[in-house]
Amino acid sequence: MMSSFKSIFSLASLCYAAITIVITVKATPVAVSRDAGDLNPYPNKPRLTFRPDGTFKLTVFSDLHYGENPWDDWGPQQDVNSTRLMRTVLGDEKPDYVVLNGDLITGENTFRENSTSLIDEIVAPLVEAKIPFSSTHGNHDNEPNITHLEEIRREQRDAPLSYTRTAPPGIGGEEGPGTYWVPVYNKVSDNSPAFVLWFFDSRGGWSPGKNSTPVPDWVDSTVAGWIETETAAMNTAWGPAEDRGALAFVHIPPHAIQAVQATLNSTENPGLNADELGSGSSQATEDPSTLGNDQPFWDALNANIVNLHAVISGHDHGNEWCAREPTKDVIFCFDKHSGYGGYSSAGWGHGVRNIVFSSPKPSDGLETWIRLEDGETRARVVLNSQYKR
Ligand SMILES: *[C@@H]1O[C@H](CO)[C@@H](O)[C@H](O)[C@H]1NC(C)=O
Ligand SMILES: *[C@@H]1O[C@H](CO)[C@@H](O)[C@H](O)[C@H]1NC(C)=O
Ligand SMILES: *[C@@H]1O[C@H](CO)[C@@H](O)[C@H](O)[C@H]1NC(C)=O
Ligand SMILES: *[C@@H]1O[C@H](CO)[C@@H](O)[C@H](O)[C@H]1NC(C)=O
Repeated sequence: MMSSFKSIFSLASLCYAAITIVITVKATPVAVSRDAGDLNPYPNKPRLTFRPDGTFKLTVFSDLHYGENPWDDWGPQQDVNSTRLMRTVLGDEKPDYVVLNGDLITGENTFRENSTSLIDEIVAPLVEAKIPFSSTHGNHDNEPNITHLEEIRREQRDAPLSYTRTAPPGIGGEEGPGTYWVPVYNKVSDNSPAFVLWFFDSRGGWSPGKNSTPVPDWVDSTVAGWIETETAAMNTAWGPAEDRGALAFVHIPPHAIQAVQATLNSTENPGLNADELGSGSSQATEDPSTLGNDQPFWDALNANIVNLHAVISGHDHGNEWCAREPTKDVIFCFDKHSGYGGYSSAGWGHGVRNIVFSSPKPSDGLETWIRLEDGETRARVVLNSQYKR
């Protein structure tokens, strides 16, 4: 959330001499097929499918914050620890899909010439385990020496099983290219998916280059129209929206989540609740004059995406709870802070959020819980229509 690295940032900017180094990233273009019958944006990748037992398991790593203080011992050691956590969790959980839900890199500490090489480290455990995955990006992934787009291109270059894409030109606003969706099929031979995973770029942070300026910290309003046209195309190609389930990921929580915190009940909304949501904790709150700017996105998301089981965010490292947001009647869940980098506090620990779809039926609920590095689990809830709070 709030950067505890502002001082490092200003120090670093002092040394930010006029060195212009162009990083060449080799992009792997993903062909997009738009015929009415086949909207599948990944014709050249394996189709994601439910297991033979009818389940689908997702593991979310969030706020990994690689690359802190590369000039010290503790920064690189944090990354060694985070990689250890990833390998342990992946080995135990064996998920069908992994989401990296933003703030992969603490970009205010990284160097122009090699900042994206941190992506190689981050995705290595996923590449080795051959687990399909995709990423959203956070406010710390946009800094003078790194951008969301550079991270996306590097990930696409590194990982054949990365499903991360960029939004069409004109969608996503300044420094917000990482908006896309991923279909999950019941069986590989199906024409239409059982579920659609949606990923949104909530931007924030700083623009690249030495005349860096703050980037808006909300999902751009152009994404609202894109949600409408994408869901309309899906309905045409695949049939009624009610036939599909959905789950959404966005790094910074929508602004509406701030008001939910006051209504939490620790029995019904279990999990750490240690970060009080304030300025900078949710979308469009860094600058009070921008309040409400995430509303077009929030409205379009909830109006057009049917059977939306939950919206899932990171950003606030001290929170792990799920709750129902009353104005849209949609469930929201925080991730679990995974990285040893990024702000933390005694006892918070590090881990992941697991999510298991119990069946490919779009209206069936899903089970979710927090798993810590040492294997401890907590805050288990079933997200379905009976989930009240
Ligand atoms: C790395 O993990 C070890 C073992 O959990 C811990 O003792 C150490 O403090 C961690 N180091 C950093 C820099 O996070
Ligand atoms: C950006 O990278 C340059 C070149 O490596 C480095 O001198 C500078 O300190 C970095 N800037 C920041 C803000 O970290
Ligand atoms: C990037 O370059 C800096 C300065 O040369 C170095 O200290 C740092 O370890 C490098 N980081 C990576 C991820 O290669
Ligand atoms: C919290 O939820 C539990 C379980 O549903 C309920 O018994 C309790 O009364 C609730 N507490 C408050 C303060 O609402």
